Amino acid sequence: AFTIKKICCIGAGYVGGPTMSVIAQQCPDIQITLVDMNTERIAAWNDPDLDLLPIYEPGLSDIVAEARGRNLFFSTNVEKAIDEADMIFISVNTPTKNYGKGKGMAADLKYIELCARQIADVATSDKIVVEKSTLPVRTAAALKSILHNTGSSVNFHILSNPEFLAEGTAVQDLLNPDRVLIGGEHKEAIQALVDIYARWVDRDRILTTNLWSSELSKLTANAFLAQRVSSINSISELCEKTGADVQEVAKAIGMDTRIGSKFLKASVGFGGSCFQKDILNLVYIARSYNLQEVADYWEQVILMNNHQKQRFADNIIQTLFNTVNGKKIAILGWAFKKDTNDTRESAAIYVADHLLNEQADIFVYDPKVPAEKVFVDLDYLNSRPDAETRRLVSVSEDPYEACKDAHAIAILTEWDEFKTYDWSRIKSNMKSPSFIFDGRKLLDRTQLEELGFVYYAIGE
Ligand code: NAD
Ligand code: UDX
Repeated sequence: AFTIKKICCIGAGYVGGPTMSVIAQQCPDIQITLVDMNTERIAAWNDPDLDLLPIYEPGLSDIVAEARGRNLFFSTNVEKAIDEADMIFISVNTPTKNYGKGKGMAADLKYIELCARQIADVATSDKIVVEKSTLPVRTAAALKSILHNTGSSVNFHILSNPEFLAEGTAVQDLLNPDRVLIGGEHKEAIQALVDIYARWVDRDRILTTNLWSSELSKLTANAFLAQRVSSINSISELCEKTGADVQEVAKAIGMDTRIGSKFLKASVGFGGSCFQKDILNLVYIARSYNLQEVADYWEQVILMNNHQKQRFADNIIQTLFNTVNGKKIAILGWAFKKDTNDTRESAAIYVADHLLNEQADIFVYDPKVPAEKVFVDLDYLNSRPDAETRRLVSVSEDPYEACKDAHAIAILTEWDEFKTYDWSRIKSNMKSPSFIFDGRKLLDRTQLEELGFVYYAIGE
């Protein structure tokens, strides 16, 4: 049997940070060191001012305050942490490849491989290596072959333990997960990880499988979730043509216990770092085994999502009399969902880009996203010179300022605070007609129409 006294986690991001904080809180006798090669990120995790942690998640700063310095440490000394650990989590990013074979589809595994090589180089005692990152099925085979060919006598046991937390609810998801999934081959290694989670998760919710089922289950779970969003979004377009209301349809079908009511909220399109990347990866894997029908089936989820973002922007342009050139449009919400500062793949980026192609003046307000982030996101698309983006886009720290003199407001994230604004004040400072395009069906049509807004919502 293994005794786990020290854990190292490589990658102090949106998954590594919250996950290790919760393990440290629940297991005060295990020393956990989170390492990252990004020195700024580690400095922010160590900042005495908890408002400056690199990741915003409700409840996270309290947990960090409790465990940091006790049994939770943040460091850039990757080698030392690897060497000392009994168990090593790999939680580095696995973005879509943007070069070479599989460009735009496959997961880029260079960071994962670097970790494996570093572990192989540094380790002087036996280790359990845990895949926490989301990986293509059969990645553990590659890790094994790197770790087992070092010529040393150190033993490595590889486990797959994909993470199912969602951003914005990470702490709650970690404290009370629907299930914990652990795939592996070595019984005692699996047991060592089961015993850690069992400190706070019921054992019957800890599921053990073989390595490949575990790896593939993560991609499959995200594909199914995203598919539900694309499915309801496809119906939202039909609702807009027929007089059906997508919220009523979602409620009616969701009450069927076989369908279930969650993840049926029509929107301007799903974002986030996972759904698109993981489905593209699934499609790529299917194609690599020559399973064209399987690949085409899942690819449609992405195509539908792209269509939803595009048609939302198109509708704004068309409604504003087919030109937005020089018109001020306020975007409320830049994060890909509420309660996070993460903007990766946010629908707002694509809607803004589309409006910028038409030379609109964009004013962005988001309660948690800093201005630099908005510009980095737009620059990354490479659609126009950076200087032009800065001429056309402003970021405001005040929502009323962002909406002042605007022709239209687009609601792109479902932040609760948007519901509490003084909409009458906003209306009186806008151009007339004053349009609202609600990409989240967040606001109340009757109230806004009474105030004189022209209100459009997804699926109505
Ligand atoms: P992230 O980009 O926030 O964090 C990854 C961190 O790893 C970065 O800080 C980076 O500097 C660091 N890193 C990369 N290579 C390194 C190396 N060789 N040595 C040291 N540090 C290194 O990414 P994330 O959102 O935390 O995602 C991590 C993994 O978890 C991905 O595979 C993702 O698919 C998966 N995942 C993410 C979520 C989510 O909600 N974000 C949920 C479930 C699973
Ligand atoms: C997702 C998975 O839910 C999580 O299990 C996995 O570990 C990581 O990927 P995340 O991307 O953080 O989590 O958030 P999620 O709540 O799944 O939302 C993803 C996107 O779908 C968001 O842009 C959200 O606004 C959108 N969405 C979600 C909808 O448009 N409608 C819905 O009904 C649900």
